[in-house]
This record gives sequence, structure tokens and C-alpha cells, in this order.
Amino acid sequence: MAEVLIIGSGGREAALEQSMIASDEVERVIVTNDVSTGIEQFSGNKKPLVIVGPELPLVQGLADELRAEGYLVFGASKAAARYEASKSFAVRMMERAGVLHPETHSVRTESEAAEFILNNSPTNYMIKADGLAGGKGVVLPSTRTEALDAALGMLSGDFYDGAGKEIVNFAQRHSGPEVSAMIVVGDNDEFTILPLAQDHKRLSEDDTGPNTGGMGAYAPVPVSIISNGQYAQLFESVEKTLKGMRTSGTPFERGLLYGGFMLSEQQEGKPVVIEYNVRFGDPETQVILPLVREAGVDMYNLLRSAAEGGLEKPDVDFAKLAISALTVCLAAPGYPNNPQKGADIYGIDNDYTDVDLQLAGVKNSKVSGGRVLYVTGTGKTIDQAAANAYAAIDVQRVGSQTNKVGFAGMQFRKDIGRQVRARF
Ligand code: GLY
Repeated sequence: MAEVLIIGSGGREAALEQSMIASDEVERVIVTNDVSTGIEQFSGNKKPLVIVGPELPLVQGLADELRAEGYLVFGASKAAARYEASKSFAVRMMERAGVLHPETHSVRTESEAAEFILNNSPTNYMIKADGLAGGKGVVLPSTRTEALDAALGMLSGDFYDGAGKEIVNFAQRHSGPEVSAMIVVGDNDEFTILPLAQDHKRLSEDDTGPNTGGMGAYAPVPVSIISNGQYAQLFESVEKTLKGMRTSGTPFERGLLYGGFMLSEQQEGKPVVIEYNVRFGDPETQVILPLVREAGVDMYNLLRSAAEGGLEKPDVDFAKLAISALTVCLAAPGYPNNPQKGADIYGIDNDYTDVDLQLAGVKNSKVSGGRVLYVTGTGKTIDQAAANAYAAIDVQRVGSQTNKVGFAGMQFRKDIGRQVRARF
């Protein structure tokens, strides 16, 4: 029987843990942010499969270090993690590989930034700090003054923990629906794309309010959003990307490549790569893994085979799934700017029908972080999956006497999956 160590501590890692526990091959799973403490818990000759959740340890080279010590690791090498850590590095690779992406102009100095801003309309581009910015670091200016403030702030190093201090990117704006592709990669550019998802980044209904780490998601994305032809183009883009990464001298192997694609109105609906990340998406993981499990795929076997190099592709056509999933994030009051901690959470130990709860900002049944927990429903249709998820949430805010999950002041959206639900 196998053992698994998952590095990380959020809802994404909780979903990974559930998917490992669901495997008949796995007898023990440890989830922790603390690598040494995690490793210490596995004694003897048997070494666990290590799955690295967040990008930071990958960028710092954790996967390489553990591989050098003989561990089987699912996670990108330090060199390949640069595709997330430096957007300009990824853009240069895509340019060489002929992968459709927004035209991008990178600058290193204040005068180069000012010159670009003077010569271009501010509503034609977005400004992206190069470097890890924790899901932030992207500004869509409306005026030249806003653009200048953002670019100079990034170059000063005072914004986004120093991301953008060296390089600021001006990327052409596209519009259209966005889809998230999580791509499990083995060796020799072998890959499998998990079912596509759409997430909701805005805090409030109708996709309004401030940007967040993700208020929910649904999967799979139906043909009404992405046609079979567009899916084929996306697939081809992934093939070209992996080949391009290899010929650039930095192949992507034995990890998860996350592609954020926009079906661009400016490009006749073709999928344009908005970003590549080198780790599982959040909250896409929370919605996709229960779906994949219900479709009969053993994620442990899939990730283990990718970590060994010889990817064993699942015998399931993800484009033809007769099952859907929908995830609703319950966020703390005050999230995202000033999350209030400490409220008692009720209903987390209940059993809900066709629902997974994935805990993130929870400690001793109290709120301990901004994104507190995820409620993921599965069902034959997206409406059924939504009905199952919302049936588990104390939508009416009855309080602890209900047999649903909730806490005082929780924030959540009732319209997750609004693009594809018949009613909400
Ligand atoms: N949901 C966006 C991301 O994980 O990057």
C-alpha cells in the first residue's frame, strides 16, 4: 500500500487529500506546509509519493531537492517553475513555439514604461508584474495616470512583495470566456487534460466586486461555451507548448501545468493563453477532483504514473462526461481585504448527499482564514450538482440549529456556474 505526502494547507490540498484517500492503493496521507515535519512522519525504507500544492516551494526548488533524495515527486522542477514565476520567460517561449498568447511588451525601467504608456491607449493592455504575486499583480488601467502609477509602483518593488521590480509586462487585452485547463504531464511531452473548469474570481454575484482567490467554480465546461473545434485548438496549443518548452531547453515534466485560456473575441474565438501556472488551480482542483473520482479515475495512479515519467492516461473520455460538479466557497466576513477570524463553524462533521467539504481556513472548527471552506456538489447535470452543493449550505442563515454548514457573517455567491445553469 502506498503513502502520500501533500505539501500545502488550503482547499486545493484538502481536495487532493480526498482524492488520494479515495484510491484503493493508498493507506496513509499526510498534508502539511512543513516539509521536514511531513517527511519525518514517514519512517523506514518506504518513501511516500510527494505532491507539491503551491507554486512557491516549486519555484524554490523543492521538487528537485526531494527527487535528489530519492523521493517520487509530482511537481515541476525549479527551472520549469519559471514558466509561472516569470511571465516574460513564458511569453518568450510561446513566441518561439507559435502558441497563441496576448502580444506582450516587457520593460525594465521607468522611462521604458513611460514611453509605452504614452504611445498606447491604456484600455488596450493589462499590466502584469513579473514574478510571484500571489494571484495579484495584474492591473487593467482606465487612464494613463493609473497605468503609470501601477507600472512605477511595480518597478519600485513596493507592490506585490517585490514582483515587478525587475520586469513589468504590458499584455494586449482580449475579451471572451475564460476556461481553466489542468494538464497532468509525464515525460516526453505525454499529457492528459483533466475536465475543463470555469472559476469566478469576483466576490459578489453577477461577477461584480473585488477580485478574490476564487469564490467558486464548475466543471466540465459544456460545448455551449467551448465548441469541439475550440477544444481541439486548445489541445493543439498544449501540445505546442510542451514541445516549445522542450526545444527552449526547459522541458515541463512530472507535474501539473495549469493553462488559463481565453476564447478570444479578437481572435475569432480561438483559445489564447492568458497565463501558465505550474501547479493545481485553486478552486479548480476542488471542483475537478470529485468529478474525476465520480468518473472512476484513480488520481493516485494518474499522479504516481506521471511522477514516475510513464504517464498512464485514464481510460475515460473527459470530453464526454455524464457528470458535473460545482464548488461554492464560503468566505470569512471582511474577505478579501480584512477577513475576520474566530467565528464558530457549524455542520462540518455532517454527512451530505453527493457533497464534498474541503476545509481551508478552519482551525478547531473556527474560522482561521479568508477562504474558509469549499462545498462541492456532484450530480448528473450542472443544475443537480448546484442543487446538491447549495442544499448543504445554510443559505437562509438559520444558525447552528440547522443541519447545514455555515458560520456567522459568511460570504458566498448563489450564482456560481451562472453561465450554464438553467436557474439560480
Ligand atoms: N483559479 C486560478 C488559479 O488557480 O490560478
